[in-house]
Amino acid sequence: MQQNIILIGFMGVGKGTTARAFAKKYGLYNIDTDDLIESKENKEVKQIFAKKGERYFRKLEQQTADWIETSVTGTLISCGGGFYQVKNLNKMGKVVLLDASFDWIHSRLKNAKNSAKKLAKRPLFHEPKKAKKLYKEREAAYKKVADVVVNVEGKSRDEICEEIAQKCGI
Ligand code: S3P
Repeated sequence: MQQNIILIGFMGVGKGTTARAFAKKYGLYNIDTDDLIESKENKEVKQIFAKKGERYFRKLEQQTADWIETSVTGTLISCGGGFYQVKNLNKMGKVVLLDASFDWIHSRLKNAKNSAKKLAKRPLFHEPKKAKKLYKEREAAYKKVADVVVNVEGKSRDEICEEIAQKCGI
């Protein structure tokens, strides 16, 4: 596989979990844009938001996108929920949207074993009402940039991986 696969979607839809399962199943490397930013800044995302603000974080996302575009091939890349806004997203690889309703995502996060941790690390999900508003604002924009859409509700991780592979021609 020469082209990267870029997994986008709202916070908590399961991009990280899917990316790890997909990478293992198809023998690929997986990198995550939040992880790249955290290691470059030597700070957690929530600390970057608290200390430097969201605008600064978005600049880091654009820098990360520029690096990926020029330096990464044949890799599965999972992205933070706002990463779809970078200007060169479609030049980075094939863009796959993991899609689900807000209520499904909310209950996935609430019912997770490590729910408190999952919510704590996501500053934009601290207030469900605000998160729902953000979801509504982004819904159409995600679909606009996506080459492929995979609805994840009610599907096993393996089924999701197979659907991605089939839709990406792997
Ligand atoms: C964000 C999503 C987060 C992280 C940051 C901002 C967003 O990633 O990048 O908190 O704007 O939706 P996840 O989608 O992995 O939670």
